[in-house]
Amino acid sequence: MDFFYVSILSSLLAVFVAFLLYKNKSGSSAGRLPPGKTGFPVIGESYEFLSTGWKGYPEKFIFDRMTKYSSQVFRTHLLGEKAAVFCGATGNKFLFSNENKLVQAWWPKSVDKVFPSSSQSSSKEEAIKMRKMLPNFLKPEALQRYIGVMDYIAGKHFSSNWENQDKVEVFPLCKNYTFWIAARLFVSVEDPAEVAKLLEPFNVLASGLISVPVDLPGTPFNKAIKASNQIRKQLLEIIKQRKIDLAEGKASPTQDIMSHMLTTSDEDGNFMDEANVADKILGLLIGGHDTASSACTFIVKYLAELPEIYEGVYKEQMEIAKSKAPGELLNWEDIKNMKYSWNVACEVLRLAPPLQGAFREALNDFIFNGFSIPKGWKIYWSANSTHRNPECFPEPLKFDPSRFEGSGPAPYTFVPFGGGPRMCPGKEYARLEILVFMHHLVKRFKWEKIIADEKIVVDPMPIPAKGLPVRLFAHK
Ligand code: HEM
Ligand SMILES: *[C@@H]1O[C@H](CO)[C@@H](O)[C@H](O)[C@H]1NC(C)=O
Ligand SMILES: *[C@@H]1O[C@H](CO)[C@@H](O)[C@H](O)[C@H]1NC(C)=O
Repeated sequence: MDFFYVSILSSLLAVFVAFLLYKNKSGSSAGRLPPGKTGFPVIGESYEFLSTGWKGYPEKFIFDRMTKYSSQVFRTHLLGEKAAVFCGATGNKFLFSNENKLVQAWWPKSVDKVFPSSSQSSSKEEAIKMRKMLPNFLKPEALQRYIGVMDYIAGKHFSSNWENQDKVEVFPLCKNYTFWIAARLFVSVEDPAEVAKLLEPFNVLASGLISVPVDLPGTPFNKAIKASNQIRKQLLEIIKQRKIDLAEGKASPTQDIMSHMLTTSDEDGNFMDEANVADKILGLLIGGHDTASSACTFIVKYLAELPEIYEGVYKEQMEIAKSKAPGELLNWEDIKNMKYSWNVACEVLRLAPPLQGAFREALNDFIFNGFSIPKGWKIYWSANSTHRNPECFPEPLKFDPSRFEGSGPAPYTFVPFGGGPRMCPGKEYARLEILVFMHHLVKRFKWEKIIADEKIVVDPMPIPAKGLPVRLFAHK
């Protein structure tokens, strides 16, 4: 779909070539830039960046350049910006510990335009303050009360979508699962028909988000902007009704994350306004949508391929299942007992990190690893390149959950959720929903892959190209 636009754009490139011969010196006098080439202005190397992803070799772009230039940092030109790619634990540490000092969060223009968030109209300090509140709603203490709800929704999801099936396509089902849980936990929407209504614009949004930002009627980008406005409108309606229900005692402050946000004030006693709550919920729905379903899908894939790992998870989960009275829901104690299962999930997140990396922007000129990074440059940190470095993870391609026993991998080497002040606020939430998913899955089934060597594509999350069809075998 996006291919159409890219081909138009890349043919435009030809026109620029003559200019480039003169203009592509791309240098600052300040110091030595990282090795690499910046490619064509405006488009830069983003065509290659996106196209290697589309062809199913997401990190080829990065790995090729690491081999060619440097295993720590190289320069390029991405999505219309001069950029440096940091590809190791040292780079991760540097970025995560210099947040808001030397670097700050940055999103490609396409993402920025799709989310003209209310925090942009308020001050930057305001935005940072709001960002700081987010983890409050998603920290373990706040989420513990929702474990039973997750378990309950998981039960409904599995009985309506998996049970009595011989064959299923895993990825769409994982999306159904994570979205159903999100709809219930964030905004108390639980009825499948209503959940589906909320979901519709999301699929449009997801495909337009990482597209070439051409805002013309019919482009994926244009549709994404419309979809995000539509979701915001739906959320605002729910918020308005909720405020009335809370005032009349018809809704509870702890029934979901939306209620929690509406009834929690910051350190100065201010409450979040409606637009801000809508933005935050939208952010959570997006942040948690494809990431967690990609993770769940890869868990199913690896467990199909590795029977001894499956057995370990099965044993742990059955012990928990057997300790429960009929109808008794999972609780915090049960989650704490899922240690091996979580190590397995972490190993999956290492080998198939749902988010390949993210961007920062240099606030000032600075030096990293002997190279100067000019102010305004964009910086991309990459999870997969760190996770597959043999110095961080010996025999990196081996699936080995014991890497996470004891104190686990060295700091900044395992970064599926990022790090520092901008670390994924949904980490604990993701952990819970992934473990509840594993519990329900292995308790019911064994399975095998139908396509032995199914390709992985990254669009923009890694997923098996055919959605991972599997044959299910229900336990007796
Ligand atoms: C396995 C699942 C997940 C993975 C691997 C993941 C990964 C990440 C990473 C790497 C970042 C940081 C990007 C950066 O450095 O700029 C991030 C940010 C974020 N994540 Fe997640 N995430 C997951 C699930 C979730 C869930 C379930 C939610 C919501 C409940 C969520 C909400 C967010 C939000 C809102 C941000 C942006 C935070 C900010 O603006 O600073 N994520 N995620
Ligand atoms: C999830 O699956 C149920 C049962 O098949 C279906 O009714 C519902 O619409 C689906 N929801 C989403 C969000 O896909
Ligand atoms: C990670 O990088 C390797 C290249 O070493 C690539 O083969 C693999 O597909 C990438 N995995 C994901 C999930 O991005």
